Amino acid sequence: MGEKLKPIIERVHAREILDSRGFPTVEVEITASGRTSISAVPSGASTGEFEALELRDNDNNRYLGKGVLKAVNNVINIFGPKLIGMDASSQKEIDDMLINLDGTVNKSSFGANASLGISMACSVVSAAFYNKPLFSYLNPNSDIMPIPMINVLNGGMHADQGSDIQEIMLFPHGAKNFTNAIQMASEIFHSLKSELKKQGMSTSVGDEGGFAPSLNSNDQAIEILLNSIEKAGYNVGSDVSLALDVAASSFFKDGKYHLKIDGSILDTNEMIVFYEDLIRQYPIVSVEDGLDENDWEGWTTMNKILGSKIQIVGDDLTVTNPQKLQKAIDHQSMNAILIKLNQIGTVSETIKAIKLAKSNGMNYIISHRSGETEDTFISDLSVAMGGGQIKTGSVCRSDRTAKYNRLLRIEEQIKNARLKDNLNFIK
Ligand code: PGA
Ligand code: ZN
Repeated sequence: MGEKLKPIIERVHAREILDSRGFPTVEVEITASGRTSISAVPSGASTGEFEALELRDNDNNRYLGKGVLKAVNNVINIFGPKLIGMDASSQKEIDDMLINLDGTVNKSSFGANASLGISMACSVVSAAFYNKPLFSYLNPNSDIMPIPMINVLNGGMHADQGSDIQEIMLFPHGAKNFTNAIQMASEIFHSLKSELKKQGMSTSVGDEGGFAPSLNSNDQAIEILLNSIEKAGYNVGSDVSLALDVAASSFFKDGKYHLKIDGSILDTNEMIVFYEDLIRQYPIVSVEDGLDENDWEGWTTMNKILGSKIQIVGDDLTVTNPQKLQKAIDHQSMNAILIKLNQIGTVSETIKAIKLAKSNGMNYIISHRSGETEDTFISDLSVAMGGGQIKTGSVCRSDRTAKYNRLLRIEEQIKNARLKDNLNFIK
């Protein structure tokens, strides 16, 4: 009798589906006490060296070796039998089982794509069982909507051409609410498109839906964008500032940073000067992965010099891993962390990293991956965690707009929803 009051897992299934780059990824389907929910796992391109393992089949006869049938099989046949009869809402118990059965630090026995699919699907099916939207199932007191970081210019490993800086993002912190932030971003996105067209540049988009024109310098990318913000009728600095994800590990070779379009090869200190100059010239409020993921000394120096002015975000450096984050706290390497569920592989460990960041006064930004699906788990997570920031690509491509559209609906559902007003790096 009592069991009916809990979402008891009855069936565990998984399948290969396609991600936004057209490669397979894992989708998990869980039935608990008569409710069925699905969750799909995303996939990165500029992945951090210390991320949990995304298990691929490496069978060159299928999907160029990128099949995920092994991970699918691990969901169904390794974890599945253990999950049957468990309470899907006992997230910690479920995640501990996934972690312990795998037994490795980076989930390399059965794959973080297997564990994360299960972990998220357990949350989603539990929310459905309790008839709650996911965000309020995760946190009944949710009332803070995230300010979106909107990636309108793609470069680096996310585009065939473009800037060395992987992502140049709009940060519309002057918006009245989330709905208004999306309107501003869309108007600027289209203004940028017209501007690029006018200058005879390509308006095709990269993996996250931002434009990826061929440019003469990193500065030129920023200048065109600032111009487009003004042409759309917004004030640079008070309505909208810029955020960068440099993904510097992707152009760090033999101890130096190789900025291809600027034609310069810089050491760590010169890279920091490069950022100091950019910040002096432009309204940049946040820099992610400004240095290589192993350049710990450089991170500490950069945070010391720039951390009081802007947000210094670790992504590849910390890979959503509470141990790495503790190291970054001890070394004062950064003042914010990017949070990606599949870098660590369970919902509980993700929330543990967020809580650790929060208790140390660090900002946290919930993030998508460059390879995404229509899954909107991160939208709900961003609201539930209350950090006030989300990064989920441009305002086109359904894999990106699915997340924003979900947030538009959530904003309607929360009575006194508000954007976070005390982001310490907005002056
Ligand atoms: P990725 O890119 O998903 O390819 O890692 C996103 C990011 O670097 O933040
Ligand atoms: Zn990044």
